[in-house]
Amino acid sequence: MNTPLQEHNRARFDAIAAGWDESPMRSGIATAVAAAIAEAVPLRLDWRALEYGCGTGLVGVQLLPHLGHLLATDLSPGMLAVLDQKARAAGLERIATRTLDLTQDRPPAERFDFIFTSMALHHIDDVAALLRAFAGLLVPGGWVALADLDAEDGSFHGPDSPGVAHQGFERAQIERWLEAAGFTSVRFRTAHTVEKDRDGEARQYPVFLATAQRPRSG
Ligand SMILES: C[S@@+](CC[C@H](N)C(=O)[O-])C[C@H]1O[C@@H](n2cnc3c(N)ncnc32)[C@H](O)[C@@H]1O
Repeated sequence: MNTPLQEHNRARFDAIAAGWDESPMRSGIATAVAAAIAEAVPLRLDWRALEYGCGTGLVGVQLLPHLGHLLATDLSPGMLAVLDQKARAAGLERIATRTLDLTQDRPPAERFDFIFTSMALHHIDDVAALLRAFAGLLVPGGWVALADLDAEDGSFHGPDSPGVAHQGFERAQIERWLEAAGFTSVRFRTAHTVEKDRDGEARQYPVFLATAQRPRSG
């Protein structure tokens, strides 16, 4: 059964899907995150990857040339419909989309070499459980990459944001959750810094990229 958080987010992202790609802020984050992932992770053309909370594919489409196959997943069918349309128009191959909410749904049967997610974690209540699900979907030695906001004061989304479960994250907390899920070699870098005007003041919101690996044995 879906919780009010997921119901809200599915309805909200379905409603704004058509205009999602028009925001320079969103494409700026996605381009920086894709570049940071390509630097930090030894992507391979024989890898099967899963993107979680892919939205309209702003990150995944940029990584596709470095991957064998991408399963792009999201809670919102509306966001995935925009991605499907873009993929068809551009003749993209080696990409498939699927609605998936790992906080509710049974995990896919497939196993992946790489799982990545950008700007979706702050919409998920139980991130520790999600990271355990990621670990279970990866082959031994598989990689994970997580991009999201560093801890902020709530001003990034503003006061009335019922779909937001976390006001960014402390990197040390992400590291503890990754290690508790069995990941090793946790590394962080700052992928991007978003600038927003807040009450006439230029505020900066850094976006971290965390990478880690599932051990080859165990
Ligand atoms: C801020 S958007 C980011 C979209 C995309 N990654 C990007 O960078 O443009 C957050 C995305 O997470 C998805 N999402 C929210 N809650 C989710 C959940 N429980 N499971 C899967 N996806 C979820 C939303 O539908 C939305 O597409």
